[in-house]
Amino acid sequence: MRALQLTALNTLSISEMPAPEPVAGEARIRLKAAALNHRDVWIKHGQYGGVKYPVQPGSDGAGVVESVGPGVDAAWVGSEVIINPSFTWGEREQAQGEDFTILGLPRAGTLAEVITVPVAQLAAKPTHLSWAGAAALPLAGLTAYRAVVTRAGLKTGEKILISGIGGGVALFALQFAVAQGAQVYVTSSSDDKIAKAIELGATGGFNYTHMGWAKTAAHGHAERLFDVIVDSAGGDGFEALLDLAAPGARVVFYGATKGNPPVLPMRKVFWRQLSLLGTTMGSPTDWEAMLGFVDEHGIRPVVSDEFPLARAAQAFTLLEQNGQFGKVVVTF
Ligand SMILES: NC(=O)c1ccc[n+]([C@@H]2O[C@H](COP(=O)([O-])OP(=O)(O)OC[C@H]3O[C@@H](n4cnc5c(N)ncnc54)[C@H](OP(=O)(O)O)[C@@H]3O)[C@@H](O)[C@H]2O)c1
Repeated sequence: MRALQLTALNTLSISEMPAPEPVAGEARIRLKAAALNHRDVWIKHGQYGGVKYPVQPGSDGAGVVESVGPGVDAAWVGSEVIINPSFTWGEREQAQGEDFTILGLPRAGTLAEVITVPVAQLAAKPTHLSWAGAAALPLAGLTAYRAVVTRAGLKTGEKILISGIGGGVALFALQFAVAQGAQVYVTSSSDDKIAKAIELGATGGFNYTHMGWAKTAAHGHAERLFDVIVDSAGGDGFEALLDLAAPGARVVFYGATKGNPPVLPMRKVFWRQLSLLGTTMGSPTDWEAMLGFVDEHGIRPVVSDEFPLARAAQAFTLLEQNGQFGKVVVTF
């Protein structure tokens, strides 16, 4: 089989290798499509903990069960499935346990024609989705669902601001919030991406590269600021988001693409009774609930671009340049 491997820092290559055999409790999946996440870019750049070369990245995949290991019901063979990349979450809904891992490091990931995973990680491919759409869903869909629904508890009619709408997770957050009946605003570095977000149901947006954008936004929404803010950029733009938070707002963050905010303005947080909520991936309960929500609302992941495995390096470049609007998919 062919697999994309990272053989050294920033060095991707396609390798030929024997297909893995499923052990007890596992299934072997012939992948139809995989999808990238920013995590794969961090791993490529050596900015993720635990990198030991070679790495076979990829957390998202959809395909067909080809064979099963000992103890697994043979009825799985031939099933069309997607893979939950959140492994060994643990017992507590509040947070993952110490054994938690994500598919694609340390375990060999989905950027390969064939992989093995425990059957417990498999779910039926949503019937309304193409292979590309199904592969686009798992990691970003799970993260967005936990952020917007489980952690923020977004309610119908609330106002939500989602930053960096070109991102894979951010776009699911938009789709879930629209489906929830919220009034959704977005930020982006691109006016074109804001226009596309409006086509998907956002009410409006702000270009975060424009000087003073948050002041303009606060002025325009002075009568009612945002009840929920979802961010994964952090950095020196984070304080501006706090200025847009309504009294009692929930500010949820699942990443820190731009690093730590230089200051945490404590007075703004306590005086406005803000809740700062961190979130990561999701539990098996979040996974089940997310799949049910996607099914119920007929949500179709936004696929930005598709690349065959042989051109997967270009898929990484697209993410590195923030060129995408939604998920970048690799097909087999
Ligand atoms: N904790 C978790 O479980 C978890 C899960 C998934 C992702 N993450 C993290 O969340 C972040 C996004 O991941 P992803 O896979 O969705 O990434 P992605 O698809 O590569 O999207 C990145 C997006 O970030 C936005 N961005 C960049 N700089 C920004 C800034 N200064 N302010 C606001 N937005 C900015 C850009 O939006 P525009 O193009 O619209 O400008 C870009 O498209 C990464 O740091 C990732 O590691 C964490």
